[in-house]
Amino acid sequence: MKSLLVVEDDTGLRGTLVTFLELEGYKVDAVSTTREALARLDSGHYPIVVSDIYLDERSGLDVLEAARRGNPGCAVILMTGRASMETVMKATAIGAFDYLAKPFELDLLLETVKRAEKSLEPADPGDEETDIDDLPETELIGSSPAMVDLYKKLVRVAQTGATVLIEGETGTGKEIVARMIHKSSPRASMPYQPVDCAAIAPSLLESELFGAVRGAYTGADRDRSGLIEAANRGTVFLDEIGEIDAAFQTRLLRFLEERTVRPVGSSKQIKVDVRIVAATNRDIAKMVEEGKFREDLWFRLNVVTLDLPPLRERTGDVRLLAHFFLKRYNERYNLTARLTESGEKELDSYTWPGNVRQLQHLVERLAILAPGGRIDAAAVREAIQAMEPRDHATETLADAEAEQIRKVLSATNNNKSRAARILGIERKTLYRKLERMGL
Ligand SMILES: Nc1ncnc2c1ncn2[C@@H]1O[C@H](COP(=O)(O)OP(=O)(O)OP(=O)(O)O)[C@@H](O)[C@H]1O
Ligand SMILES: [Mg+2]
Repeated sequence: MKSLLVVEDDTGLRGTLVTFLELEGYKVDAVSTTREALARLDSGHYPIVVSDIYLDERSGLDVLEAARRGNPGCAVILMTGRASMETVMKATAIGAFDYLAKPFELDLLLETVKRAEKSLEPADPGDEETDIDDLPETELIGSSPAMVDLYKKLVRVAQTGATVLIEGETGTGKEIVARMIHKSSPRASMPYQPVDCAAIAPSLLESELFGAVRGAYTGADRDRSGLIEAANRGTVFLDEIGEIDAAFQTRLLRFLEERTVRPVGSSKQIKVDVRIVAATNRDIAKMVEEGKFREDLWFRLNVVTLDLPPLRERTGDVRLLAHFFLKRYNERYNLTARLTESGEKELDSYTWPGNVRQLQHLVERLAILAPGGRIDAAAVREAIQAMEPRDHATETLADAEAEQIRKVLSATNNNKSRAARILGIERKTLYRKLERMGL
C-alpha cells in the first residue's frame, strides 16, 4: 500500500481528500502547513505527495523541492485555484509530476495519483536503458557502409575543385555534406556562400548571384557585387537547384562554361574562381527528360555526383543518430531523457520518409515529452503518430494534449515557434489551443 502525503491548508478540502484517498486504499498522512510538510518529507517516506501551491509564507513549490530532495523519485502533484502560465511552467521546470487546477473532480485526482503510482514502478526491467560510448565529434554522423562509401568519395572530391551535384531525398543531410566538402577542401579558409535558390525570387536570382550596376533595375541605387564574386576563391553552394527557371538555367550554364560574371546592366566580365556545389531532392534526370531542366547544364553540374542514401538504407545509423540528437537536446533543454532497447528497436523499424531531419525532430520531441524521460517503444510509437499529419476526428484527448503543450513550452522557455515545431503543429494552431486552455 502506497503512503501518500497531502498538504492542504483548507480544512474542508483536506478532509475530503484524506477520506477519498483512504477509501481508494491509500495510506494517507495530511498536514496543513509547509513547516509540517518539510519536517515529514525529510524522512523521504512518501513516494507520492499531493500539495496545494499557495499555503503560507512558503509554497507548494518549496514542498516539491523538499520532497525531491528527500526522495528524488517522489511524484509531486500540485493543486491550485490560481493557476497561471508562470506557476505551471515553474512547477514543470522543477519536476512536478502533474498540476491540477481547482476545483477538480475527485476522479481526476485519482486518475492522476494512479498515473503517478505507475510512473514509480520500475518499467519493464528487461527493457534496459541504452547508451553509446564515445559518440563521434564530427557533424556528419553515420557508420553504415552506405555512409562510409560517401565519406570516401567526399574526401576525394573535396581535394579537387570539381563541380559537385549532391542528390538525395529530403532531410538526408545534403546541406551538411556541402559544408563538409568546403571544409575538407584546400579552399576551407576562403568564403563559403550558401544560396537557397528556392527562397530567392527567380527575377532576383541573377542580380543576387552575379551583381548589378546602379540603375540596372528599380531600386538598384548603387553598384552591388554578387554573391559569386564575394565568394571568390571559395565555394558557392546552390541549394535546391531543381527549382531554378529556364532563364537562370541559361545564365548559370554560361557562368559554368566561362567562369566569369557579368553584373546585370554591365558589359564588364569579371573573372572569378569559385567552386560550385549544387544540391537537389528532385530527380534531375527525369526533369531533363521532361524538358524542365537543360541537359547541358545538368552535364556541367554533375561532373561528380554524391548520392545521399535515405536513412532507411543506413543500417545501424538510426541508433547512432538517435543517441547523438538525444545528447544534444538533453544538453540544450537540461533534460535527462534516456533511450531504451525497445525504443531503439522501434526507431529502427520505422521507414523515415523525412529521413534524418525527421529523426532529429522526433528525438527533440521525445526528449521533452517521453513519460519519466524514458524513451521506450510505446513513447516512440506515440510520437511518430503525433507527427504524422493528423485526422481531425482523432484529435480528442484534449487533456493529454494540454499537458504536452505545457511541457514543451516549459522546456523551450516559452518559445512558441520552437514549441509548435516540436509539437508538430502550426504556430497559429498553438495560439488557438493556448487560448482554449485559458493561457
Ligand atoms: N549524417 C548526419 N549527421 C548528423 N546530422 C544530420 C545528418 N544528416 C542530416 N542531419 C541533420 O538533419 C537535418 C536535415 O539535414 P539537411 O538540411 O542537410 O537535409 P537536406 O538533405 O538538405 O534536406 P532538403 O532536401 O529537405 O533540403 C539537419 O538539421 C542536419 O543537421
Ligand atoms: Mg537542404
